Amino acid sequence: MARLKVGVLASGRGSNLAALIEAAADPAFPAEIALVIANVKGAAALARADAAGIPTKVIEHRAFASRAAFDAALDAALRAAKAELVCLAGFMRLLTPKFVEAWRDRMVNIHPSLLPAFPGLDTHARVLAAGVKITGCTVHFVRHETDSGPILAQAAVPVLPGDTADTLAARVLEAEHRIYPLALRLIGEGRARVVEERVEIVARTGGKATPGALLNPPQDA
Ligand code: GRF
Repeated sequence: MARLKVGVLASGRGSNLAALIEAAADPAFPAEIALVIANVKGAAALARADAAGIPTKVIEHRAFASRAAFDAALDAALRAAKAELVCLAGFMRLLTPKFVEAWRDRMVNIHPSLLPAFPGLDTHARVLAAGVKITGCTVHFVRHETDSGPILAQAAVPVLPGDTADTLAARVLEAEHRIYPLALRLIGEGRARVVEERVEIVARTGGKATPGALLNPPQDA
């Protein structure tokens, strides 16, 4: 079966991109990365794509007079690569409503919190300040409001005593690298549908049961 063609937009480190590349290296994975676009020259994400033989393009937002013009360039590049889905992976630009609408239900993002809690930047510092015991990460379809949209997959991650924003970010990032490929696989298999702004996952016969609750602190604390 033809694999779903994906365009990835990234601005920096690209560790989530790397997780997607690794998953898609398996020919049985139902999606392939057709293009990686970065808005920053020299972004590490570009080197990761290069190393995997994936076409890359730098579209610098600074080169455009308006957000609309920048987004039109993104759109044109994605269409030229015949992308059917856009994955935002640490893409640090706000997208215009026109672009978001054009890719409605065909664009996903990963955010390092259990949305709708803690959208926006400096997530882990705010999680620590709030004192929550469990945080996590979310893959969601993109809507215009930042870090909003129908939720596809989430992982819960404990906040541990002594955590700093950095130690917590590292723990959450490991979970991100697990759920982003999972979410992409579900989309590629045609098993994730947006129905009335919620995502329905079509069960696979013989699929594993949903795991039990993650308790933090643990019951035997
Ligand atoms: C991740 O924490 C992701 O959740 C957020 O930006 C970060 C990107 O990291 N949207 P990377 O570039 O994928 O390593």
